[in-house]
Amino acid sequence: MKNKKALIFGVTGQDGAYLSKFLLKKKYIVYGVKRRSSIMNTQRVDDIYKDINYKSNFVLLYGDLTDASSILNLIKKVNPNEIYNLAAQSHVKVSFEVPEYSADVNGLGTLRILEAIRSLNLEKKVKFYQAGTSEMFGSTKKKFQNEKTNFHPVSPYGVSKCFAHWITKNYRDAYGMYACNGILFNHESPIRGETFVTKKIIQGLVRIKQGSQKKLFLGNLYSKRDWGHARDYVEAMWKMLQQKRPDDYVIGTGKTFTIKDFVNRAAKKMNFNIRWTGVGIKEKAVNIDNKKIIIECKNRYFRPLEVDYLKGDASKAKKILKWVPKISIDDLIDEMIQHELEN
Ligand code: NAP
Ligand code: GDD
Repeated sequence: MKNKKALIFGVTGQDGAYLSKFLLKKKYIVYGVKRRSSIMNTQRVDDIYKDINYKSNFVLLYGDLTDASSILNLIKKVNPNEIYNLAAQSHVKVSFEVPEYSADVNGLGTLRILEAIRSLNLEKKVKFYQAGTSEMFGSTKKKFQNEKTNFHPVSPYGVSKCFAHWITKNYRDAYGMYACNGILFNHESPIRGETFVTKKIIQGLVRIKQGSQKKLFLGNLYSKRDWGHARDYVEAMWKMLQQKRPDDYVIGTGKTFTIKDFVNRAAKKMNFNIRWTGVGIKEKAVNIDNKKIIIECKNRYFRPLEVDYLKGDASKAKKILKWVPKISIDDLIDEMIQHELEN
């Protein structure tokens, strides 16, 4: 049997790297789309090149979601069985600073891929995965969020992803495309981008422990997130594309923690003895052993609007995809600390 071909937009990101390895193990030929940058942006997939088992089945090509012709040419050239759209300006806070760009890449970028599939008459041949997000639930008051929960996005990022979600559903309904929306809750890993809060906390605490950083500056300590591991979540993406019918699925752990909980868990694992004092922007954590302040809050890390509470109900994925998260928050933190210490 011929190897299946997957085209991944956003291959150089956290999920792109995990998904590539997952698909290569399943004997896919993986075509990854990287965008031009002035310094190398392929660090997360460089090890794939070095791996003799994967090397020949992993191809990197240039493209950009803001460039419709590049998307069309790539799809024509690769003629993939599956397309995964993981590319995005994925930082919520940054989306308030570059709203138009975020909408262009995340919203219109998705439409450009769908339209390219359609113009190449591949709508009955290619399967499409869209990387949706729990950020679309925004200010929801529901205790658990699932596929039936209304979207109330509160950031340009969340709004742009709602457009991508609805246009994906629209192309599925209007043209009979096999197109799925994954609605994924936060998922992290040792290769998470350094400006996302979990990586920032682990990296900061390890550096403070080792003496190369004095303090860690954070924003809102009281928002709650449902954190899983990227390795588990890319499997769910693939499973969505292996079903008889295309559909949308929530992927999460069903557990939620504040940012402060995450800090406390990580600090304990690193044998920090900390005490919190103060309130609001004045809240800080003191290292009891040497009386030094190691965590402070800064206005610049707060957002104009916040998603206060996220907790996913992935029972549909459990039932239909037979997907369950395997990696706990404690195992995730352990892996992230270990990676940080080794690097
Ligand atoms: P990430 O690490 O920020 O990766 C984003 C990827 O998109 C990178 O490869 C980036 O390239 C690429 N990209 C950005 N702008 C592009 C453009 N104009 N054209 C082509 N590629 C572009 O994000 P991630 O955490 O892996 O997340 C993957 C996807 O899932 C994203 O769409 C994100 O919004 C969504 N999502 C993530 C989570 C999560 O918790 N991680 C949860 C729900 C949904 P560079 O490497 O060159 O920057
Ligand atoms: N980034 C960051 N930096 N966040 C901080 C900080 C800080 O210094 N201090 C507190 N936070 C809070 C944020 O206000 C937010 O409530 C929470 O930590 C998580 O922030 P991020 O790690 O940046 O993730 P996110 O939840 O905003 O977005 C991520 O998850 C979404 C899924 O819900 C991203 O990966 C999105 O792309 C993804 O869609």
